[in-house]
This record gives sequence, structure tokens and C-alpha cells, in this order.
Amino acid sequence: MRIVVGVGGGIAAYKACSLVRKFTETGHDVRVIPTESALQFVGRATFEALSGNPVHTGVFADVPEVPHVRLGQEADLVVIAPATADLMARSALGRADDLLTATLLTARCPVLYAPAMHTEMWEHPATVANVATLRAHGAIVMEPAAGRLTGADTGPGRLPEPEEIFALASLLLERSDAIPRDLTGRRIVVSAGGTREPLDPVRFLGNRSSGKQGFALARLAAQRGAHVTLVAGNTIGLEPPAAVELVHVTTAEQLGVAVDKHAVGADAVIMAAAVADFRPTNVAAAKIKKGVDEPDRIDLTKNRDILAGLVQARHDGQLPGLAIVGFAAETGDEHGDVLTHARAKLERKGCDLLVVNAVGEGKAFEVDNNDGWLLGADGTEQALDHGSKLLLASRVLDALGPLLR
Ligand code: CTP
Repeated sequence: MRIVVGVGGGIAAYKACSLVRKFTETGHDVRVIPTESALQFVGRATFEALSGNPVHTGVFADVPEVPHVRLGQEADLVVIAPATADLMARSALGRADDLLTATLLTARCPVLYAPAMHTEMWEHPATVANVATLRAHGAIVMEPAAGRLTGADTGPGRLPEPEEIFALASLLLERSDAIPRDLTGRRIVVSAGGTREPLDPVRFLGNRSSGKQGFALARLAAQRGAHVTLVAGNTIGLEPPAAVELVHVTTAEQLGVAVDKHAVGADAVIMAAAVADFRPTNVAAAKIKKGVDEPDRIDLTKNRDILAGLVQARHDGQLPGLAIVGFAAETGDEHGDVLTHARAKLERKGCDLLVVNAVGEGKAFEVDNNDGWLLGADGTEQALDHGSKLLLASRVLDALGPLLR
């Protein structure tokens, strides 16, 4: 695919280098178009070497090639990283005073802006209005990350990490309409990752959940406008999504407490976490040693079912209107295939939607792609095409939308 990476003049321009590299490494033809001021931060030669293509900033280079029209017309995707306040202002106005803004006017493909600026600039009414204009024009303006900015200040305005921009860009190549602002004003709680149930200070019972699917859901819900609380158990060094409230937990009990707390007032809870059904009944205060009080068995106590608890609380009128989404990782066995087990689980759990993954033989756990089914309490069944976890997340959020009060 042909991807234009536009680079604005901000300190985060150095992160555009990793982004360009990710696109070229995955086989895309990348044209980098920096603004003149972006070249104050990263040199032209760096972008030329990383993209393997010439780099210009103005409309008067290669004039016979008409690049100010051709690059935009031919692109499958335009990604602006970092999108500075000034660049977004110029592009919201429809100016075409350099190669990048001219390209933005001619592009008919999805355009993804990854903003980076100081919090004051991001929150200024002028920027807020420009972002709204760009979104009204059909562009996707990412929510920036919160955190350390250049200098000592912190707050929203940090460039989302290149991995996150790359993931959302790849999603747009899979599905150009996957990031609408349909969840604006919604509060969504997502649980993700596996729980760890301690045996002693160094050992635990855990599971193979990586947290990737839950993180993808949280990431996309936030970029679709929701206020997202991500309750994360163990995840294998995943980059936290930009613009979500992250709550770290370890055990099933902690996960349950956090989900119950944040479910109050929420529009939806998505239980993507792999919650341990059992925990060791006794947790040794000191490390269990070979040859000393060697246990020959581990007694287990059942954990409460958090999802079923939410359904019950809603039934009792405590969580009115909450939409509840469950996950099921299933294998077929002598009692039935994956779908048979999943239908029974949906019935048993009483949630509104059940996302079903077939597991085993390298499927679902720890991998980047997922496929499965989406079962609705109303009897609807949708096969989920094989694709990235963000693509699956987009299908889940599409199905969730109509269930929100
Ligand atoms: N879940 C939960 N609390 C638990 C166990 C599971 O909330 N103690 C949630 C998971 O987050 C998931 C759904 O329930 O959304 C299904 O999880 P799964 O482990 O497949 O279901 P179980 O009820 O444990 O069914 P099984 O008999 O297959 O183990």
C-alpha cells in the first residue's frame, strides 16, 4: 500500500522515524512529507534513508511530476505524526502552502492525525475547534496520550507511541471506517490480561492470556471517543493505550473489586480478562522449600464469577442500563464443538454479547491475530473475520453501540 507520512515540526518528530520504519518493514511504499520546521528536528537524509524515497517539503520540487497533487491522489493512507497545533490549524482551514497541506487537500483516502503538543495548546479553544473541523471533514484525529511532555510538565498532549499509531493505521488499511467517534460521552470499563493467584511470595497460578485483545478494545474505544477505564491484570509488557485510565491489578479478587467499582455509572463493561476460576486456599507467607513441609497437594478455593455478578447486580437494579460483554475461549470436546459450548455459556452468564475465540493449536493466546464469533443475547450470531485484534475490537464495538442506553 502507498502511505504518506506527514511530519509536523515538533520535538516528537523523532518518533516518526520508528513509524516510517514499521511501515517499510511491513512492505508498504512510504513517502515522507515533512514540514519545513519538521526538518529542524529530523534531517531530510534520515527520512530518505528510512523510506527509500526522496523527501521534499515544498511544491516547487519535481514540478513536472506534480507531486502536490499526485502524492495525495495516489495514497491509500495519510498519517500525520506528530500533528502539531499549527499543522492542524492550517489543514483545518484548507490551506495548501506547502507540500504536506497540498497533499492533505488532494487525499481521498483515510487521514489519521496523531497530535503532539503541550496540554495548553491541545486544550485551547482554537485547537479544539480545529480538531472538530478536521473530524467533521472525515479525518481521524487520535486522542493524544497523557504523560511526560518535553520539559517538566505532564498532561494530555503526548504523541501516542509509534506502535499505537502503526496499529491504528494498519486497522484503517483493513477497514477504513473502523474509527468513528460513535462512543463520545460513553464510559466503558474493559478488563484485560490474566490474573495471578499467589501460592507463596514467589509463585502463582496464572494463565496464558497476554492482554492484547483487551488492550485493543480499550485502545479503540478511547479513540472512538469513550472514557475508558482499563483494568489490567498481567500483560506481557504491552504498551498502555493512549488516553485510557489504567488500573493495575494482580488477583481475580482485586480485578473484581476494581471492575465493580468502575462499573457504577458506566455504560458498558467488557470482560476480556482471563480470570482464574480458582485460587490456592492457603498462601504461604514464606517461600515453600523443597524438603521442608513439602506440600503433596494444593487446595483450591473457587473465585467468584465477576461477569455473572455484574449481570446479577443489573438484574437487582444496581447497575441500570449497563451493557455487559463477556469473552469465551473455548475448545471443542466430546460434549460439543466450540459454538455449542459458547451458546451454553452465553445462556449461563446472561451477558448481552459473548465474544468467542477458538483456542488451542496456537490460536488466540499471545498471537496478534484473532478470529471467532460474536453471539448476541437476542440470538444473533456473527462470524468474525480473521484479522488483527483491533479489527476484532472494531466489530465488537460496532455490535456494542446499539446496546448502549
Ligand atoms: N469471568 C469472570 N469471573 C470469573 C471467570 C470468568 O468474570 N471468575 C469472565 C471472563 O472475563 C469472561 C467470561 O467470564 O468474560 C468467560 O470466562 P471463561 O473462563 O471462559 O468462563 P467460565 O465461566 O470460567 O467457564 P468454563 O466453565 O469454561 O471455565
